[in-house]
Amino acid sequence: MSRNKKDWYRRMSFYQIWIRSFYDGNGDGIGDLYGVYEKLDYIRSLGVDGIWFSPIYPSPNADFGYDISDYKNIHPDYGDLAQFQKVLDKAHAIGLKVIMDLVVNHTSDEHPWFLESRKGKDNPYSDYYIWRDAPNNWNSLFEGKAWEYDPVRKQYYLHLFAKKQPDLNMDNPKVREEVKGILRFWLDLGVDGFREDVINFISKKEGLPDGIPFLPAANGLPYYKDGPHIHEYLAEFRKVCEEYDCFQVGEGPFTSVKSALKYLSGPTKSLDMMISFDHMMADCFLSEYIPRPFSLRKLKKAFSKWQYTLAGKAWNALYLENHDHPRVISRYGSEHLYWKESGKMLAVSYLFQQGTPFVYQGQEIGMTNIRLSSIDQYVDVVSIYNYHAFHQKDPEKKRMHRIHLASRDSARTPVQWDDSRYAGFSEHKPWFAVNPNYKKINVAAEEADPDSILAFYRKCLALRKHSKTLLYGTYREYFPKHDKLYVYERAYGEIRYLIICVFSHFPVKLQLPTVYAGKKGQLLLCNYPDPEGSENGMMRPYEARVYRFRVK
Ligand code: GLC
Ligand code: CA
Repeated sequence: MSRNKKDWYRRMSFYQIWIRSFYDGNGDGIGDLYGVYEKLDYIRSLGVDGIWFSPIYPSPNADFGYDISDYKNIHPDYGDLAQFQKVLDKAHAIGLKVIMDLVVNHTSDEHPWFLESRKGKDNPYSDYYIWRDAPNNWNSLFEGKAWEYDPVRKQYYLHLFAKKQPDLNMDNPKVREEVKGILRFWLDLGVDGFREDVINFISKKEGLPDGIPFLPAANGLPYYKDGPHIHEYLAEFRKVCEEYDCFQVGEGPFTSVKSALKYLSGPTKSLDMMISFDHMMADCFLSEYIPRPFSLRKLKKAFSKWQYTLAGKAWNALYLENHDHPRVISRYGSEHLYWKESGKMLAVSYLFQQGTPFVYQGQEIGMTNIRLSSIDQYVDVVSIYNYHAFHQKDPEKKRMHRIHLASRDSARTPVQWDDSRYAGFSEHKPWFAVNPNYKKINVAAEEADPDSILAFYRKCLALRKHSKTLLYGTYREYFPKHDKLYVYERAYGEIRYLIICVFSHFPVKLQLPTVYAGKKGQLLLCNYPDPEGSENGMMRPYEARVYRFRVK
């Protein structure tokens, strides 16, 4: 793959901040930019090179920031533009890039554009949103029907997500100009790029045809995913970004790797990376609300499909956690028996693939899901809707179990900094429940333990950063049918890294690809303190190893 000036993002890794739960700097129980400022050195110490801020703009928080009411400002809960500039300057000074969340599929219904648009058909904002006299049959992805009647305008507006998130009409050139204005505003302040929310949904098919009637939530998907003008619109945004040394990672729900390639390469290239979802479905079907037993083969298939298809053509975004998914140890690992081992193994399973890794706040210390006893204690719109809308006949226990498995709130509990009250997140009662396991799982405890998950993340991120093979080498998977071992290789010239991960509560026989048989590799990394501790060619539960070979 050709390397150009803008390749810096390929050598990087990112840390994602979901600010409300990151760290409270001013003692009101809500995470903020004062807290981020204090923790920048910690973030840098992980070995990451950049921060992605989930939305920090003014928002009524119907979807915790993803419903924006002012694109060019900071939510007063989090600080102000001056404090943002302070964070940005310090981040840059210590070698961290900063990317912002660009949420332009929809706004908040409290955004002034929407307030104007509601008023009627003859004002400058009338066509900023998608209004119809009669709805089609689309369902929203978050809350029932995708159309809401507005008694003021006496029409229905489209919302693919929550009711309080009306979809923008991207076919309106004025709306696209607004988007470019937003990009410029933040780029002029000095940010380094954008993570672009549900970006593959912004162009809707003309006429908004009815969707497949029997499909639930996503029935309109064929008419808004990768819509007719998506690549034109993104090209316009790309042009602005190209005036700056800025990079763009899109979020592509339901995207196939084939359609992702169109965004990431060739004449329609408009993004540098795509956040894909296939590998987040190894224990569910379409969404975490339809759980299935975990399947390693499914996980490996998703990983390898993206690795192979993008190879030499485009670049992967690597992640296992973000604010939209429950904690990964609770899903693909072992929360109790092998918490530490599986937490580290999961790091190894994705950080050494080809691509730019993202680490989500709290992931680096192995935070796990929370299990609150009543739905009233949950705040995420999707959790609440799913609880009330589905399986009403199920007993309460079963309904809550589903929430415990699936809720996005599990990823949104306050970060556990130490074992003091409120986990050191704040001196004030936090805005959302702290996971009761904070006495054991917290940054301070792990800083003091050289064998901690935290210490291991640091090792992994450093190893990746300093190895050409791990950065640029080719990817190859071995034993794809094995249902307990994930084995992959990265190769660059004579140097090969072999990565072996055990997904099992029981020991598993080590398997080496035949090309390595009889060769002596150097064991660079192991997630057990005594790397030689496994016997007779067995690997221990959730063990992970990284070997380096020189092959002539
Ligand atoms: C993206 C965000 C998610 C949000 C949704 C609607 O998937 O990551 O948090 O709820 O878009 O904006
Ligand atoms: Ca605060």
